[in-house]
Amino acid sequence: MFEHFKGRDIISINDFTKEELLFILEYSKKFENLRKPLLAGKILATCFYEPSTRTRLSFVSAMLQLGGSVLGFDKGGSSSAAKGETVSDTAKMMEGYADVMVIRHPLEGSARVAAESTEIPVINGGDGANQHPTQTLLDLYTILKTKGSLENLKIGMVGDLKYGRTVHSLAEALSLFNTTFYFISPNLLRMPESILSSLNERNRIYYETNDLFDYLGELDILYVTRIQRERFIDPLEYEKVKNSYIIDTKILNYIKKDLKILHPLPRVNEIHTSLDNTPQAEYFRQSKNGVTVRKALLSLVTGTIL
Ligand code: CP
Repeated sequence: MFEHFKGRDIISINDFTKEELLFILEYSKKFENLRKPLLAGKILATCFYEPSTRTRLSFVSAMLQLGGSVLGFDKGGSSSAAKGETVSDTAKMMEGYADVMVIRHPLEGSARVAAESTEIPVINGGDGANQHPTQTLLDLYTILKTKGSLENLKIGMVGDLKYGRTVHSLAEALSLFNTTFYFISPNLLRMPESILSSLNERNRIYYETNDLFDYLGELDILYVTRIQRERFIDPLEYEKVKNSYIIDTKILNYIKKDLKILHPLPRVNEIHTSLDNTPQAEYFRQSKNGVTVRKALLSLVTGTIL
């Protein structure tokens, strides 16, 4: 299976088979807390045209923990994009500077454009409201670690299901398993039809509601998302939905005791800090799992196997 990954771009979670996803998750276990100069001499370019804390810094940490080096920019305005350089030209040039690149960009499809323009592997760190495949891999890893399996789970997703790219990628990936979905959002922010169609094609059952408490007692995982203010065209629309869900310790009376709460972070106010020290709160461990999974991905796409 290793030969499936060497030199490969990671653009959409839909580019991977179920077997490949399970292989990545199994391989990632080897990288838990691993610090070893496996990638000594390799260089990662981080090309971030949009803000990021976790994705960029966990990739940087992953590369450093494996003995590699990092270069890049973290605001499009500090690169020659400010002078009009295209993503395509930037990606082409990275061939001469790095062995692998990760890109985050506000435009959907930009990571694919970068991948088509360069010989080095390109990893999508988030393209607009479209996809965030490495977030999905770390989400799957976290679910697998806490639940022991990805099969037959009842997964609730709450918040901004329209613009939240993490829930788009995660729903697509979990539809490969026997998941039942509960989509909880204001009407304005429902899961896009394209994702619902894809679930229908795989005969997956899903429920939609705007009341968090409708199905809360059935859930194994509650995946909370931030309302993505930056993606709203009309600020008044954002004002209407910005405080739709604020989850706090009141939910503890209604949940299965082994429910785990995930959140890709950053949060604004949708999970109250009073939940942070409960056994249900998994979101900070989830963000740490990002380093583990990203170490495994860097190893795989550079063909430097542990
Ligand atoms: N989860 C996530 O993508 O976080 P950042 O925006 O901080 O990278």
